[in-house]
Amino acid sequence: MGTVRVIYQTRSGHTRTVAEAIADEIGVKAIDINEPASLADTDLLFVGMGIYAGKVDQNLMDYLDQLPQNKIRGAAVFSTSATASDHMELVINLLEHKGITVYPEHCCVKGQFMGIVSHGHPNDSDLRKARRFAREVLDCFQD
Ligand SMILES: Cc1cc2nc3c(=O)[nH]c(=O)nc-3n(C[C@H](O)[C@H](O)[C@H](O)COP(=O)(O)O)c2cc1C
Repeated sequence: MGTVRVIYQTRSGHTRTVAEAIADEIGVKAIDINEPASLADTDLLFVGMGIYAGKVDQNLMDYLDQLPQNKIRGAAVFSTSATASDHMELVINLLEHKGITVYPEHCCVKGQFMGIVSHGHPNDSDLRKARRFAREVLDCFQD
């Protein structure tokens, strides 16, 4: 496997927690989209995001929109949300439009909302799930 990177967008830190577990599983550092970083020549990019009112954050869309064309080979997406629901279609479409192959499975884990909904998430079990996902994606892209 060549260069693997993990980027994430977060408002309250849950997606960072998951991104750090994934990055640790791979042996890299997770990168907040607000940190300066070059993603050119990335073989596999993990993209993490929170879900807000059924959507992803516009800052993430703007960030992905500026990615270099044909410089990133593959991507895998993950999210945290109160219901662990999958609202990542727009991100996937944008990545594919950039010529990036997106792994067909997505990792959606719970993230606590308003202190009561999905309280305590992401928890250890969520992080194990995220680590398994990272391993599966790596194995697939190595083949
Ligand atoms: C303004 C706002 C809107 C949200 N809307 C949804 C939603 O539509 N569906 C859902 O499942 N969770 C929703 N959530 C919960 C977040 O997706 C959840 O807390 C997630 O873990 C946030 O990620 P972050 O901590 O990385 O920002 C919302 C949270 C906030 C703050």
